[in-house]
Amino acid sequence: MNQRNELNLISLLNNESMNVSQAKATLNNGIEMPLLGLGVYDMHGKEAEQAILHALETGYRLIDTASMYHNETEVGNAIRHSGLQRKDIFITTKVNNADQGYDVTLKAFETSLSKLQTDFVDLYLVHWPIKGKRKETWKALEKIYKGGSARAIGVANYLIPFLEELKTYSDIIPAVNQVEFSPYLFLKDLLDYCRKNTIQLQAYTPLVRGKKFNDARLVQIAEKYKKTPAQIILRWDIQLGVCPIPKSTNPKRLKENFDVFDFELSQHDMGLISDFNENLRVVDDPMDYF
Ligand SMILES: NC(=O)c1ccc[n+]([C@@H]2O[C@H](COP(=O)([O-])OP(=O)(O)OC[C@H]3O[C@@H](n4cnc5c(N)ncnc54)[C@H](OP(=O)(O)O)[C@@H]3O)[C@@H](O)[C@H]2O)c1
Repeated sequence: MNQRNELNLISLLNNESMNVSQAKATLNNGIEMPLLGLGVYDMHGKEAEQAILHALETGYRLIDTASMYHNETEVGNAIRHSGLQRKDIFITTKVNNADQGYDVTLKAFETSLSKLQTDFVDLYLVHWPIKGKRKETWKALEKIYKGGSARAIGVANYLIPFLEELKTYSDIIPAVNQVEFSPYLFLKDLLDYCRKNTIQLQAYTPLVRGKKFNDARLVQIAEKYKKTPAQIILRWDIQLGVCPIPKSTNPKRLKENFDVFDFELSQHDMGLISDFNENLRVVDDPMDYF
């Protein structure tokens, strides 16, 4: 665990009365990002607005959307209706694959801002490492960051070869790398690389879309802590210093996924869970894009 996140967790664990929505990671440019957020892939219309409102009521303060998800407008609507101040919510969005390149990305960013009904995002990500477009797209993100319309910029689906390549043309180190990550896809080398290079790892599809909740080993650990399999996985992420963004539209599950700050997995159990790795992907392998 890197020192930054370790300190965050220690202050969290020592203060039980602390509002859990305040649990944050500090990014490499000094800005703070909630440790746990809501992913909004595959939710639309009123269902998306309701889910985001429920999440904000529950205490979530990070919403992870993307141009590709076709719900930035719903994210903007829900935030507007929540009564919360814009500055208290961390919005992540991503440039779509078809919009990559320098000028196109700059234009796509303006469209995202307009749909989100805001004049800045907290984090703007390159959604996928598209061949032949990676450098120009990153240069556009650097321009957006320098112009102040994104508080941080980063990448998604960048495995080590993509990050090494990015080093050759970047002026700014990505603040975040959002990748598929779970006990069943434990990318230890990438996690170590990101820690060393001050890039915060964020886990997408952290719950493996529910495919592993019946794993007897996971169920046994969940029973021991009187928690659910989903909570055990999310807590494993957080103790590793990785920020998960589970998706749910269900109020009960939204609450369940957020209720992971009142217990701690032992080092022994952390090790057992890390051994579940089977390189299981439910989304594309980014290396197919290299
Ligand atoms: N950067 C990228 O390329 C990329 C790719 C994929 C995903 N993402 C991001 O990561 C987020 C999360 O990933 P994901 O949505 O693919 O998968 P996920 O969070 O691993 O799983 C979501 C699925 O699990 C169910 N679920 C959620 N909490 C549960 C619980 N406590 N118990 C039982 N079932 C539960 C949800 O159903 P209900 O809604 O019915 O609860 C949904 O079907 C996305 O929404 C998106 O923001 C990014």
